[in-house]
Amino acid sequence: MLKKKSGYVVAILGATGAVGKETLEILEGRRFPLASLRLFASKRSAGEVMSCQGKEWKVEELTTESSFTGVDFAFISATDAISREYGQRLGAAGVVVIDDSGVFRMEADVPLVVPEVNAHALTAMPRGIVSIPNCTTTPLVMALKPLQDAVGVKRVVVTTFQSVSGTGAAAMDELMTQTKDLMSFRDTKANVYPYQIAFNLLPHIGSFNDGGDCSEEVKIARETRKILETPALRVTATTVRVPVLRCHSEAINVELGRPLKPNEARALLAAMPGVIVYDDPAKKLYPMPLDATGKDEVYIGRVREDESITNGLNLWVVSDNLRKGAALNAVQIAEYVVRG
Ligand code: A2P
Repeated sequence: MLKKKSGYVVAILGATGAVGKETLEILEGRRFPLASLRLFASKRSAGEVMSCQGKEWKVEELTTESSFTGVDFAFISATDAISREYGQRLGAAGVVVIDDSGVFRMEADVPLVVPEVNAHALTAMPRGIVSIPNCTTTPLVMALKPLQDAVGVKRVVVTTFQSVSGTGAAAMDELMTQTKDLMSFRDTKANVYPYQIAFNLLPHIGSFNDGGDCSEEVKIARETRKILETPALRVTATTVRVPVLRCHSEAINVELGRPLKPNEARALLAAMPGVIVYDDPAKKLYPMPLDATGKDEVYIGRVREDESITNGLNLWVVSDNLRKGAALNAVQIAEYVVRG
């Protein structure tokens, strides 16, 4: 249990990355009660200066010698190896670790939390670690939760359209560089992804298992069941990387437990905290990545009946993967812990 204070010492491991930078912005925007900040990254960023809440903070190189004495919260969004090593260590030392990797998510003694959906899970953090879900799972469970509570959800079929920022800052640079090269009739190279991502899409996120599923698809199914506390829920996913800089989109097909008219579904979704229903086909209003960029809310549109199955519903969901999909969700968890 964290002692109440007027300000907390926060460490960010991976501060210079796409999610780390967003975390700084969100701590500032939401006026998180900061006593001080410790920013960590690799050797190449050490000494860089980043600003937050009107002050400048110097980036430190993360090494096994780094001291975390006095740190209250650690946000980790770097590499799996870093999560594994520092997550365990800091959690055991009494730091509240909020981890963005897949390393701990499915462990029974680590809560996996989207505060609007299952904040109650934060009451038990025996290892001092809380995981945030994959950036596609978060908007998916935000959409499913009110439907689950109202009429039950039996099966979910989701196809994702994931922006390159989900892979990190290097992938964003790669999309921009490839686009500029190709527009200038120059040859271009793929480094981050196995193929060119500009003017293309890749039906492949993570690694393939023996059955042909991508690790991202497996994560979505498992994490959704854990967060909604529905171990029997049938979920199948196809994950696709698209040449979009920010925001993940999802086409979601749901088989509900009982009939629900699209208007009733819209009302349930609109009442969900953190969700905005943006759905007026006659006026060509539907959520798009450019609209949701930099926004905190999960946007839902294209709500319609799927007549091909009993109690079928189709949804289109867009959310900023760096904000609600990562940094915002992490800071919201810290706010819950602070409030006690
Ligand atoms: P750096 O910028 O110095 O490489 P992204 O997901 O956007 O690629 O960001 C990854 C984050 O993790 C960056 O802040 C990056 O720092 C940091 N990082 C990657 N590898 C290491 C490492 N070996 N030690 C410390 N920080 C690392």
